[in-house]
This record gives sequence, structure tokens and C-alpha cells, in this order.
Amino acid sequence: MNAFDLSRLRPRLPSPLEPVEDERFARRGLTLLLKREDLIHPDLPGNKWRKLALNLEAAAGRPVLTFGGAYSNHLRATAAAGRLLGFPTVGVVRGDELAGRPLNPSLARCAADGMRLEFVDRATYRAKNDPAVLAALLDRAHAGAYVVPEGGSNALAARGCAELGRELAGAADAVAVACGTGGTLAGLAAGLAPGQRALGFPVLRGDFLGGEVRALQEAAFGGPRGDWSLDGRFHDGGYARVSPALEAFTRDFEERHELAIERLYVAKMLHGLVTLAEEGAFPPGTRIAAVVTGAPDGVQPSVSSR
Ligand SMILES: Cc1ncc(COP(=O)(O)O)c(C=O)c1O
Repeated sequence: MNAFDLSRLRPRLPSPLEPVEDERFARRGLTLLLKREDLIHPDLPGNKWRKLALNLEAAAGRPVLTFGGAYSNHLRATAAAGRLLGFPTVGVVRGDELAGRPLNPSLARCAADGMRLEFVDRATYRAKNDPAVLAALLDRAHAGAYVVPEGGSNALAARGCAELGRELAGAADAVAVACGTGGTLAGLAAGLAPGQRALGFPVLRGDFLGGEVRALQEAAFGGPRGDWSLDGRFHDGGYARVSPALEAFTRDFEERHELAIERLYVAKMLHGLVTLAEEGAFPPGTRIAAVVTGAPDGVQPSVSSR
């Protein structure tokens, strides 16, 4: 264990797997389980932990530079890790118009955790993977920094997420997860055992995600891994859009299960899963694990006694 091994922070791993009673599943002979990744660590919940763990080990105390929008959970998690483990962090933030304004609560938290914020215009931000643009950003911020891509998804992140799949061995037949950049699904699917399958629910519009997942698996594992598919019907209008119908579904789920649900990712996955169960997409006897990849902002996840 090196000094930048996240396990020093005493994560709750393996994360709990909780059976829940839900008649929409039970009446079709299905079992619903919640994989409580939100309980891994209060500052680095869910896939943030899984994706950062191997990256921070690789960075080994060098400054970490990463990217995000003004409300990025990934920036917040990286800043918190820097504070907790004692390494410098730089957040490249989309939107140079933000530079002269008071920081929003999310960026204020990053700054309070010691993250240096570099605001860049949208064209530069879009070009951030171009080697010349990245070199200029590194020059400006921290030459020699370890770079983690937007959303934290790279080969090491996917390998970290494979551990999530391995924790589910023998416990579920199908595993549902919300997808943004695809790193969590790429790793999860790779970690599952033969006979288990992963179902991804994209929260963004567009058809790019399958290609991203394949590319991440190629980079992380050298080729395709596991049985996975995407159902693109549940983005609810796109990133950060939450329709009144989705809000009503989510409140109902929260009341049924006494659990606060993160809206931008987890709610969309649960909505997709309940719809698929009602469509008869799973044969009776199927055990379905829904991955709770994060907690709502500012809400302490409720800890089940089970
Ligand atoms: C709570 C939550 N769930 C799911 C995801 C999607 O993860 P990925 O970008 O690896 O697809 C994210 C984004 O990082 C997230 O914040």
C-alpha cells in the first residue's frame, strides 16, 4: 500500500448489497437488490471511488489535473481526495465567464479543499484532448501533473470499476447502471462472471456511448469484455433534465424504500429498470442488482441496518 492508496481512507468495501421489497418486481417473480455504492465513502461515493483509486495510486502524489463543468461531482471528489491524502489538485473548468464571478457552492467546495481552478473558454475546453492544447494547459497550471480525463473515465478507471462487477459474482443475474461517459459500465461488465449481464442506461442524448464503452474496454483490458447492452430510452431529455414525470417516479421510489435518490443518474436508471420489469423484459427468477452510483447533493446517504 503506498501513501496514495485510497484504502487508507477506510472505504466501506465491498459495498453493501441490500434486497428491497418492490411489488413491481415481486409480482413478476423478480428480485430487486440495491448495490449501495453510495456508502463507500462520504466524500468519494460510488463510482468516484472506483474510478479514482487506481489513478491516484498511479499519480503517486504528483499533482492531479482534471476537467469538469461548474457542477462536476468528479471535480469535487478529486479535490476531496487531494485534501484527504495530501496531494495538489487542479480543476480545469469549462467556461471562462465564470472566472470573474463568485464561485458556486460546488466550485467553492473544490477551492476550499485546495483545488486550483483554471477557467477556460468553451472552445479550449472542447479541444482539451488535443496534445498541443493539453500541453498548454499543463504549462499554465502544473507541468508534470498527472492528467485524469473529464468524468474520470480512462483505462485505470475502468479497471477500478471491474472490482464492482467482481463483488456481484454469484449474487445477481442482471446488473443495471446509469451511464455518462461509460467508464463504470465498461469496468462493471468486465468484472462480471459468465452468465451475468450488465445493462447501461445513458443519461445523455446521442448514440456515442457504445463506441466509448468499447474503446475503454480495449484500452483497459485489450478487447471486448462481458455481456453488456444499452437502453437509450431513459435520458429524459438529456443531461441534468428531470421531467415532472421522472420527479414523480423518483419521489414515489424514495417513499417506498426510504432512500434519497440522486436525480441526474440514479433516478434515470431506476426508472428504466422499473419500466423494463413492467414490460416483461426479465424472465421470472431473475435477480436484478441496481447500482446506486451516487447520493444526492448535500444528503448523507441513509445507512441500512441490513
Ligand atoms: C452518480 C453517478 N452515476 C453514474 C455516473 C456515470 O458514470 P460514467 O461516466 O462512468 O458512465 C456518474 C458520472 O460520473 C455519476 O456521477
